[in-house]
Amino acid sequence: MTVAGVSFRNPIVLAPGTAAYGRELGGVIALAALGGIGTKAVSPKPRAGAPAPRVAEARDGVMINAVGLANPGLDEVKRVELPWLAEHAGGARVMVNVVGDTVEDYATVVSSLTDQAGVDIFELNVSCPNVRAGGMEFGADPATLAAVVRGARAATNRPIFVKLSPASADIAASACVAVDAGADGITLVNTMPGLVVDVERRRPALGFGSGGVSGAPLLPVGVLATWKVHRAVRVPLLGVGGVSSATDALQYLIAGASLVGIGTAAMRDPSVPERVVRDLGRWCEAHGVRSLGELIGTLEWPS
Ligand SMILES: Cc1cc2nc3c(=O)[nH]c(=O)nc-3n(C[C@H](O)[C@H](O)[C@H](O)COP(=O)(O)O)c2cc1C
Repeated sequence: MTVAGVSFRNPIVLAPGTAAYGRELGGVIALAALGGIGTKAVSPKPRAGAPAPRVAEARDGVMINAVGLANPGLDEVKRVELPWLAEHAGGARVMVNVVGDTVEDYATVVSSLTDQAGVDIFELNVSCPNVRAGGMEFGADPATLAAVVRGARAATNRPIFVKLSPASADIAASACVAVDAGADGITLVNTMPGLVVDVERRRPALGFGSGGVSGAPLLPVGVLATWKVHRAVRVPLLGVGGVSSATDALQYLIAGASLVGIGTAAMRDPSVPERVVRDLGRWCEAHGVRSLGELIGTLEWPS
Protein backbone atom coordinates (compact mmCIF):
# COMPACT_ATOMS: atom_id res chain seq x y z
CA MET A 1 0.00 0.00 0.00
CA THR A 2 1.12 3.55 -0.73
CA VAL A 3 0.52 6.32 1.80
CA ALA A 4 1.52 9.92 1.00
CA GLY A 5 3.73 8.54 -1.77
CA VAL A 6 5.55 6.09 0.55
CA SER A 7 5.00 2.34 0.16
CA PHE A 8 4.19 0.37 3.32
CA ARG A 9 4.17 -3.42 3.38
CA ASN A 10 1.35 -3.35 5.95
CA PRO A 11 -0.47 -0.61 7.90
CA ILE A 12 0.91 -1.35 11.39
CA VAL A 13 3.46 1.08 12.82
CA LEU A 14 5.03 1.41 16.28
CA ALA A 15 3.73 4.59 17.95
CA PRO A 16 6.28 7.37 18.57
CA GLY A 17 7.82 7.44 22.02
CA THR A 18 7.08 3.80 22.77
CA ALA A 19 9.92 2.22 20.77
CA ALA A 20 12.66 4.87 21.19
CA TYR A 21 14.71 4.80 17.95
CA GLY A 22 14.37 1.07 17.36
CA ARG A 23 17.74 -0.01 18.79
CA GLU A 24 16.29 -0.48 22.27
CA LEU A 25 13.81 -3.04 20.98
CA GLY A 26 16.72 -5.46 21.33
CA GLY A 27 15.32 -7.99 18.91
CA VAL A 28 12.03 -8.37 20.83
CA ILE A 29 10.10 -6.78 17.99
CA ALA A 30 11.07 -7.66 14.41
CA LEU A 31 10.82 -4.38 12.52
CA ALA A 32 10.91 -6.35 9.26
CA ALA A 33 7.42 -7.69 10.06
CA LEU A 34 5.89 -4.23 10.50
CA GLY A 35 4.82 -1.40 8.24
CA GLY A 36 6.83 1.22 10.08
CA ILE A 37 8.25 2.76 13.23
CA GLY A 38 7.62 6.20 14.67
CA THR A 39 10.72 7.48 16.45
CA LYS A 40 10.81 9.17 19.83
CA ALA A 41 10.39 12.93 19.39
CA VAL A 42 13.48 14.78 18.16
CA SER A 43 14.21 18.36 19.26
CA PRO A 44 17.10 20.62 18.16
CA LYS A 45 18.87 20.34 21.53
CA PRO A 46 18.97 17.39 23.94
CA ARG A 47 16.09 17.38 26.42
CA ALA A 48 16.40 15.93 29.92
CA GLY A 49 12.62 15.44 30.13
CA ALA A 50 10.35 15.31 33.15
CA PRO A 51 11.30 14.23 36.70
CA ALA A 52 10.75 10.58 37.75
CA PRO A 53 8.50 8.71 38.00
CA ARG A 54 7.66 9.21 34.35
CA VAL A 55 5.27 6.35 33.78
CA ALA A 56 2.55 4.83 35.95
CA GLU A 57 -0.07 2.23 35.32
CA ALA A 58 -3.47 3.71 36.06
CA ARG A 59 -5.22 0.31 35.97
CA ASP A 60 -5.65 -2.74 33.67
CA GLY A 61 -3.66 -1.69 30.62
CA VAL A 62 -4.28 2.02 31.10
CA MET A 63 -1.06 3.96 31.25
CA ILE A 64 -0.21 7.53 32.17
CA ASN A 65 3.13 9.07 31.27
CA ALA A 66 4.98 12.32 31.49
CA VAL A 67 8.31 11.63 29.83
CA GLY A 68 8.57 15.28 28.83
CA LEU A 69 9.90 14.47 25.35
CA ALA A 70 13.31 13.46 26.69
CA ASN A 71 15.64 12.85 23.75
CA PRO A 72 19.35 13.08 22.94
CA GLY A 73 18.83 15.97 20.52
CA LEU A 74 19.10 16.39 16.78
CA ASP A 75 22.88 15.93 16.40
CA GLU A 76 23.01 12.66 18.31
CA VAL A 77 19.89 11.29 16.62
CA LYS A 78 21.40 12.16 13.24
CA ARG A 79 24.81 10.70 14.04
CA VAL A 80 23.81 7.53 15.92
CA GLU A 81 20.14 6.64 15.91
CA LEU A 82 18.97 7.24 12.35
CA PRO A 83 21.97 5.55 10.70
CA TRP A 84 21.24 2.49 12.87
CA LEU A 85 17.60 2.53 11.80
CA ALA A 86 18.51 3.00 8.13
CA GLU A 87 20.54 -0.20 8.36
CA HIS A 88 18.19 -2.28 10.52
CA ALA A 89 14.63 -1.19 9.73
CA GLY A 90 14.31 -4.12 7.32
CA GLY A 91 11.92 -2.26 5.03
CA ALA A 92 9.81 -0.81 7.86
CA ARG A 93 9.20 2.87 7.07
CA VAL A 94 10.73 5.41 9.42
CA MET A 95 8.56 8.29 10.64
CA VAL A 96 10.60 10.86 12.52
CA ASN A 97 8.56 12.50 15.27
CA VAL A 98 9.54 16.17 15.62
CA VAL A 99 9.06 18.53 18.55
CA GLY A 100 10.24 21.98 19.57
CA ASP A 101 10.00 24.77 22.11
CA THR A 102 9.46 27.34 19.37
CA VAL A 103 7.83 27.40 15.93
CA GLU A 104 11.30 27.60 14.33
CA ASP A 105 12.54 24.49 16.15
CA TYR A 106 10.33 22.25 14.00
CA ALA A 107 11.79 23.61 10.76
CA THR A 108 15.31 23.30 12.19
CA VAL A 109 14.89 19.56 12.83
CA VAL A 110 13.09 18.88 9.54
CA SER A 111 15.57 20.80 7.42
CA SER A 112 18.54 19.09 9.07
CA LEU A 113 17.08 15.61 8.48
CA THR A 114 15.46 16.08 5.09
CA ASP A 115 18.35 14.43 3.22
CA GLN A 116 19.09 11.87 5.89
CA ALA A 117 19.16 8.29 4.60
CA GLY A 118 16.32 6.13 5.82
CA VAL A 119 13.93 8.92 6.81
CA ASP A 120 10.59 8.43 5.05
CA ILE A 121 8.11 10.76 6.75
CA PHE A 122 8.16 13.57 9.30
CA GLU A 123 5.50 13.74 11.97
CA LEU A 124 5.07 17.04 13.80
CA ASN A 125 4.09 16.53 17.42
CA VAL A 126 2.00 19.59 18.27
CA SER A 127 -0.04 17.75 20.89
CA CYS A 128 2.16 16.57 23.78
CA PRO A 129 0.43 17.23 27.12
CA ASN A 130 3.58 16.72 29.22
CA VAL A 131 5.73 19.79 28.71
CA ARG A 132 5.59 23.21 30.31
CA ALA A 133 6.11 25.17 27.10
CA GLY A 134 5.08 24.32 23.56
CA GLY A 135 3.49 20.90 23.22
CA MET A 136 -0.27 21.12 23.04
CA GLU A 137 -0.22 24.91 22.74
CA PHE A 138 1.17 24.61 19.21
CA GLY A 139 -1.73 22.48 18.07
CA ALA A 140 -4.43 24.37 19.98
CA ASP A 141 -3.91 27.77 18.38
CA PRO A 142 -4.76 27.77 14.63
CA ALA A 143 -2.31 30.56 13.73
CA THR A 144 0.58 28.84 15.55
CA LEU A 145 -0.35 25.44 14.12
CA ALA A 146 -0.32 26.89 10.60
CA ALA A 147 3.03 28.58 11.24
CA VAL A 148 4.62 25.34 12.51
CA VAL A 149 3.40 23.37 9.49
CA ARG A 150 4.34 26.08 6.97
CA GLY A 151 7.83 26.30 8.42
CA ALA A 152 8.36 22.55 8.21
CA ARG A 153 6.79 22.43 4.73
CA ALA A 154 9.29 24.98 3.45
CA ALA A 155 12.14 22.84 4.84
CA THR A 156 11.41 19.51 3.10
CA ASN A 157 9.86 17.76 0.12
CA ARG A 158 9.27 14.65 2.20
CA PRO A 159 5.76 13.91 3.45
CA ILE A 160 4.71 15.64 6.67
CA PHE A 161 2.09 14.29 9.07
CA VAL A 162 0.72 16.41 11.91
CA LYS A 163 -0.23 14.70 15.16
CA LEU A 164 -3.25 16.16 16.94
CA SER A 165 -4.58 15.96 20.49
CA PRO A 166 -7.79 14.16 21.47
CA ALA A 167 -8.39 17.15 23.77
CA SER A 168 -8.60 19.48 20.76
CA ALA A 169 -11.79 21.57 20.88
CA ASP A 170 -12.51 20.93 17.18
CA ILE A 171 -10.15 18.30 15.81
CA ALA A 172 -11.56 18.42 12.28
CA ALA A 173 -10.98 22.18 12.15
CA SER A 174 -7.38 21.71 13.40
CA ALA A 175 -6.81 19.07 10.71
CA CYS A 176 -8.07 21.49 8.03
CA VAL A 177 -5.67 24.17 9.27
CA ALA A 178 -2.76 21.70 9.10
CA VAL A 179 -3.65 20.49 5.61
CA ASP A 180 -4.16 24.04 4.30
CA ALA A 181 -0.68 24.87 5.63
CA GLY A 182 0.83 21.98 3.67
CA ALA A 183 0.47 18.76 5.74
CA ASP A 184 0.34 15.54 3.71
CA GLY A 185 -1.31 13.49 6.46
CA ILE A 186 -2.80 13.70 9.95
CA THR A 187 -2.15 11.46 12.97
CA LEU A 188 -4.95 10.88 15.46
CA VAL A 189 -4.45 10.87 18.43
CA ASN A 190 -1.81 11.78 20.98
CA THR A 191 -2.35 10.92 24.66
CA MET A 192 -5.23 12.48 26.63
CA PRO A 193 -4.34 14.76 29.58
CA GLY A 194 -4.99 13.01 32.89
CA LEU A 195 -4.03 12.78 36.57
CA VAL A 196 -3.37 9.76 38.76
CA VAL A 197 -3.30 10.49 42.51
CA ASP A 198 -1.15 8.51 44.94
CA VAL A 199 -3.67 8.57 47.79
CA GLU A 200 -1.18 7.70 50.55
CA ARG A 201 1.07 10.63 49.69
CA ARG A 202 -1.77 12.82 48.40
CA ARG A 203 0.49 13.70 45.53
CA PRO A 204 0.39 12.98 41.81
CA ALA A 205 1.79 9.56 40.91
CA LEU A 206 3.98 11.19 38.25
CA GLY A 207 6.94 13.47 38.91
CA PHE A 208 5.59 16.07 36.47
CA GLY A 209 2.14 16.08 38.09
CA SER A 210 -0.33 15.44 35.31
CA GLY A 211 0.41 13.21 32.32
CA GLY A 212 -0.90 11.71 29.11
CA VAL A 213 -3.30 8.77 29.28
CA SER A 214 -2.76 5.99 26.74
CA GLY A 215 -3.98 2.46 26.16
CA ALA A 216 -7.45 0.94 25.94
CA PRO A 217 -9.58 3.98 26.92
CA LEU A 218 -8.20 5.93 23.97
CA LEU A 219 -9.61 3.50 21.39
CA PRO A 220 -13.13 4.93 20.97
CA VAL A 221 -11.75 8.47 21.35
CA GLY A 222 -9.19 7.95 18.58
CA VAL A 223 -11.63 6.17 16.30
CA LEU A 224 -14.14 9.04 16.57
CA ALA A 225 -11.40 11.59 15.92
CA THR A 226 -10.33 9.58 12.86
CA TRP A 227 -13.88 9.50 11.52
CA LYS A 228 -14.38 13.25 12.06
CA VAL A 229 -11.12 14.11 10.35
CA HIS A 230 -11.70 11.60 7.53
CA ARG A 231 -14.85 13.50 6.64
CA ALA A 232 -13.07 16.87 6.78
CA VAL A 233 -9.85 16.39 4.78
CA ARG A 234 -8.62 14.42 1.77
CA VAL A 235 -5.20 13.32 3.05
CA PRO A 236 -4.18 9.94 4.54
CA LEU A 237 -4.63 9.42 8.28
CA LEU A 238 -2.65 7.48 10.87
CA GLY A 239 -4.94 6.21 13.62
CA VAL A 240 -3.37 5.51 17.02
CA GLY A 241 -4.69 5.03 20.54
CA GLY A 242 -5.71 1.90 22.42
CA VAL A 243 -5.03 -0.67 19.71
CA SER A 244 -4.20 -4.18 20.95
CA SER A 245 -5.94 -6.43 18.42
CA ALA A 246 -6.75 -6.71 14.71
CA THR A 247 -10.37 -5.78 15.50
CA ASP A 248 -9.17 -2.54 17.10
CA ALA A 249 -7.00 -1.79 14.05
CA LEU A 250 -9.93 -2.54 11.73
CA GLN A 251 -12.03 0.04 13.58
CA TYR A 252 -9.48 2.72 12.71
CA LEU A 253 -9.24 1.56 9.07
CA ILE A 254 -13.02 1.51 8.61
CA ALA A 255 -13.24 4.97 10.24
CA GLY A 256 -10.78 6.30 7.66
CA ALA A 257 -7.18 5.59 8.70
CA SER A 258 -4.66 4.21 6.19
CA LEU A 259 -2.07 3.41 8.88
CA VAL A 260 -2.56 2.22 12.47
CA GLY A 261 -0.15 2.81 15.36
CA ILE A 262 0.39 0.63 18.42
CA GLY A 263 2.09 1.97 21.57
CA THR A 264 1.02 0.98 25.07
CA ALA A 265 -0.11 -2.53 24.11
CA ALA A 266 3.31 -3.25 22.56
CA MET A 267 5.11 -1.95 25.68
CA ARG A 268 3.15 -4.47 27.75
CA ASP A 269 3.49 -7.32 25.27
CA PRO A 270 5.97 -6.88 22.40
CA SER A 271 4.34 -9.69 20.41
CA VAL A 272 1.17 -7.60 19.89
CA PRO A 273 2.15 -5.67 16.71
CA GLU A 274 3.19 -8.81 14.80
CA ARG A 275 0.07 -10.61 15.97
CA VAL A 276 -2.12 -7.74 14.78
CA VAL A 277 -0.45 -7.88 11.33
CA ARG A 278 -1.08 -11.64 11.14
CA ASP A 279 -4.67 -11.43 12.37
CA LEU A 280 -5.47 -8.58 9.99
CA GLY A 281 -4.36 -10.81 7.10
CA ARG A 282 -6.53 -13.65 8.40
CA TRP A 283 -9.55 -11.38 8.84
CA CYS A 284 -9.22 -10.09 5.28
CA GLU A 285 -8.92 -13.60 3.91
CA ALA A 286 -11.99 -14.77 5.87
CA HIS A 287 -13.99 -11.75 4.66
CA GLY A 288 -12.92 -11.85 1.01
CA VAL A 289 -11.08 -8.52 1.33
CA ARG A 290 -8.19 -8.51 -1.17
CA SER A 291 -6.68 -5.20 -0.17
CA LEU A 292 -7.07 -3.08 2.98
CA GLY A 293 -7.79 -0.13 0.71
CA GLU A 294 -11.24 -1.66 0.20
CA LEU A 295 -11.98 -0.98 3.89
CA ILE A 296 -10.60 2.50 4.50
CA GLY A 297 -13.31 5.01 5.37
CA THR A 298 -16.18 2.62 4.61
CA LEU A 299 -17.99 3.29 7.90
CA GLU A 300 -21.73 3.63 7.37
CA TRP A 301 -23.01 6.31 9.72
CA PRO A 302 -26.59 5.81 10.96
CA SER A 303 -28.98 8.10 9.12
C1 LIG B 1 5.77 6.48 27.15
C2 LIG B 1 5.17 7.22 25.99
C3 LIG B 1 5.93 8.16 25.29
C4 LIG B 1 5.38 8.85 24.20
N1 LIG B 1 6.15 9.74 23.50
C5 LIG B 1 5.64 10.35 22.39
C6 LIG B 1 6.46 11.21 21.58
O1 LIG B 1 7.66 11.40 21.82
N2 LIG B 1 5.87 11.81 20.50
C7 LIG B 1 4.54 11.61 20.18
O2 LIG B 1 4.05 12.18 19.19
N3 LIG B 1 3.76 10.77 20.90
C8 LIG B 1 4.28 10.14 21.99
N4 LIG B 1 3.49 9.27 22.70
C9 LIG B 1 2.08 9.03 22.29
C10 LIG B 1 1.96 7.75 21.45
O3 LIG B 1 2.68 7.85 20.24
C11 LIG B 1 0.47 7.45 21.13
O4 LIG B 1 -0.08 8.54 20.41
C12 LIG B 1 -0.37 7.23 22.39
O5 LIG B 1 0.36 6.52 23.37
C13 LIG B 1 -1.66 6.46 22.08
O6 LIG B 1 -1.41 5.18 21.57
P1 LIG B 1 -1.46 3.84 22.51
O7 LIG B 1 -2.76 3.88 23.26
O8 LIG B 1 -1.36 2.70 21.54
O9 LIG B 1 -0.28 3.92 23.41
C14 LIG B 1 4.02 8.58 23.81
C15 LIG B 1 3.27 7.63 24.52
C16 LIG B 1 3.82 6.94 25.58
C17 LIG B 1 2.96 5.91 26.30
